[in-house]
Amino acid sequence: MKVLVTGGAGYIGSTICSALEDSGHCPVILDNLITGRPEFTANRIFYKGDIADNNLLNNIFSDHPDIFCVIHCAALIIVPESTEKPYDYYHENVAKSLELFRFLSQEGCHRVVFSSSASIYDKTANFKVTEESPLAPGSPYARTKYMMEMVLQDFCQAYKLQGIALRYFNPIGADPKMRSGIHVKNPSHVMGKMVDVALGKDPVFKITGVNWPTRDGSGIRDYIHVYDLARAHVSAVEKFESAFLQSGQNDYLVINLGTGNGVTVKELVKAFETAYGQTITTQEAPPRPGDIAGAYANCDRAETLLKWKCTKNITEGIADALEWGRIRESRLNWS
Ligand SMILES: NC(=O)c1ccc[n+]([C@@H]2O[C@H](COP(=O)([O-])OP(=O)(O)OC[C@H]3O[C@@H](n4cnc5c(N)ncnc54)[C@H](O)[C@@H]3O)[C@@H](O)[C@H]2O)c1
Repeated sequence: MKVLVTGGAGYIGSTICSALEDSGHCPVILDNLITGRPEFTANRIFYKGDIADNNLLNNIFSDHPDIFCVIHCAALIIVPESTEKPYDYYHENVAKSLELFRFLSQEGCHRVVFSSSASIYDKTANFKVTEESPLAPGSPYARTKYMMEMVLQDFCQAYKLQGIALRYFNPIGADPKMRSGIHVKNPSHVMGKMVDVALGKDPVFKITGVNWPTRDGSGIRDYIHVYDLARAHVSAVEKFESAFLQSGQNDYLVINLGTGNGVTVKELVKAFETAYGQTITTQEAPPRPGDIAGAYANCDRAETLLKWKCTKNITEGIADALEWGRIRESRLNWS
């Protein structure tokens, strides 16, 4: 099947493209490279441009009328930056997605898979969340995801669209065949920072937030291997029709994508040190703006509707992150 992947030059979008190809599908990438990497588009159908560019969208769909589904990953994604630059985040993630969804509902393809985020969940006493758990997005970034879920749901109800919002927990690792991985010079996510400390690029790994009400005070997350996450998108495309039939819903579904296991940051440091074979220097620090205690996923719905579950463990995620960290400078032309 042919699948349009917006943000397909990014960390997750490029891994989705690899997983689609591994299953015999054909990704078509739309990315303006604001943060994404041209290297990840090599040997793939690639349109450089903006998701809100109506003319470009027209060209893509007239070149590829057989696009079966759109996976919408394109977004700005850095939580602390979103607290400093909310206009940019609402403009890129909300206003432009609104234009993309308008185009798709009128003339493009009517099946949409949307990259949402577990950061929209409210705090819960035991940190485990189902898709019905209360929502309370804690940052401008998270609010953009929450708003676009609501927009997608309303569009699906009013127009011909069918949408699946996938709420990602915390992706780690890299493509197991090392086709892509974290690409920013200074990663803001926990695993990228640990790898930078292990490789001597940063002196210390800061455990940001140590007074959360978790078992050891550090934040709790559900770390999912990025290739498992990518495979879930392949399942969402392949099972698109049957997921709706089975769920009894006509036009809109929300599905958590995680492992089902909560791991604290301090536990992740230990797992990292075991996989790495050495200790890393850590330092306790206050939470960053927009940080939350965290959550982990109940993934029953993904298993039932997408026939998907994770197959990779946290050690494999750490090992792939380390391997990618060692080679990425030779793969990416940052100059
Ligand atoms: N990385 C995570 O931890 C995480 C967690 C939950 C959800 N998500 C969601 O997954 C998606 C992908 O995240 P990622 O980690 O791969 O980020 P990324 O920055 O690596 O990829 C985003 C891609 O979108 C492109 N892009 C941004 N705005 C665009 C626009 N207006 N038009 C065209 N292309 C545009 C960028 O160039 C980049 O290639 C995002 O929607 C993000 O909100 C990520």
